[in-house]
Amino acid sequence: MTDKKPRAFSGIQPSGKIHIGNYTGALQPWVEAQSEVDGIYCVVDLHALTATDIGSGKSVGERSREVAALYLACGLDPGASTIFLQSEVWTHPYLSWVLETQVPLGWLSRMTQFKSKSKEADSVPTGLLTYPVLQAADILLYDADIVPVGEDQKQHIEIARDIAQRFNSTYGTAFVLPQPLIGTHGSRIMGLDEPTAKMSKSRALVNQGHSIGIVDDPEAISRAIRRAVTDSGTRIDVQNAGAGVRNLLNIYKSFSGASDRALAARFDGRGYGVLKNSLAELLVDTLAPIRNAYQRILAERSYLDEVLNSGRERALRISTGKVARVMEILGLRG
Ligand code: AMP
Ligand code: TRP
Repeated sequence: MTDKKPRAFSGIQPSGKIHIGNYTGALQPWVEAQSEVDGIYCVVDLHALTATDIGSGKSVGERSREVAALYLACGLDPGASTIFLQSEVWTHPYLSWVLETQVPLGWLSRMTQFKSKSKEADSVPTGLLTYPVLQAADILLYDADIVPVGEDQKQHIEIARDIAQRFNSTYGTAFVLPQPLIGTHGSRIMGLDEPTAKMSKSRALVNQGHSIGIVDDPEAISRAIRRAVTDSGTRIDVQNAGAGVRNLLNIYKSFSGASDRALAARFDGRGYGVLKNSLAELLVDTLAPIRNAYQRILAERSYLDEVLNSGRERALRISTGKVARVMEILGLRG
């Protein structure tokens, strides 16, 4: 008998351009952990309804399929991992509502993301406030032990844990307490145009030079790296690099797996142009096969349909069991 593998759950919103930060912070760690976990990866399209670029260009449905194709193109194997669309599994908004009846309003209004996003908006949708509860439902429905995400999601995983803990201590154990899994590098890639701000999908809509899309073509990748902001000096010092060069080094490190020592041996004392050329080459080489696979998968409609159908069936099987347990605990069934 082998021990049961830990369960991992994570997701990406089908909004904006999926970038190299999403790759190093999420997709790459998911793929790397694939043989050691029972991985469940969701395209969180209901969360994306809170994004402000909704309605521009492609439908959410189209973008969701693209994100699912990207999961596969990056190396998630549907034989080993479960891939599905959140809106196809009714238990997510259902459990979210049930949890909302239990979560203190103050927990949600204090969330960093809510505070910053609601400052930007003229009118704040309620879904922006309850967003972390839906995310908690996503995770708790599957008894996820670990949630592999980028650094920016830490607070969201912590609140999911708090919600689970509060529910368990009030009603009796229903949920596993999840742990975030955040990598040491690659979990916070900064904008190429502004290395003091996190690379984000929404900012990419305003400035083309902000991010690199996972499926950008080689010319666009090289151009974005050429134009990336560096530091005020001219020579690289790996240990003491400023924000711009540190970000480029960090991206290099995430994509190559090189150690700090190897980075120093390769780049210390050299000009910024050398780093930019090496990095552009590394990104083009790594991303080209992903881009090819992505285009192939999207062109072959029935394969993706099959993956998403079987993912949905497994997600439903697991999560309806959890919902039944919660209904029983709450006395919803007489
Ligand atoms: P989102 O773009 O908000 O849907 O994020 C999807 C996943 O990518 C989450 O796990 C994020 O933490 C991660 N992520 C987003 N932006 C970055 C970034 N700049 N660096 C590293 N990880 C990121
Ligand atoms: N909020 C996450 C993000 O923006 C996406 C997300 C939704 C998620 N549900 C999740 C991530 C569950 C991990 C687990 O990146």
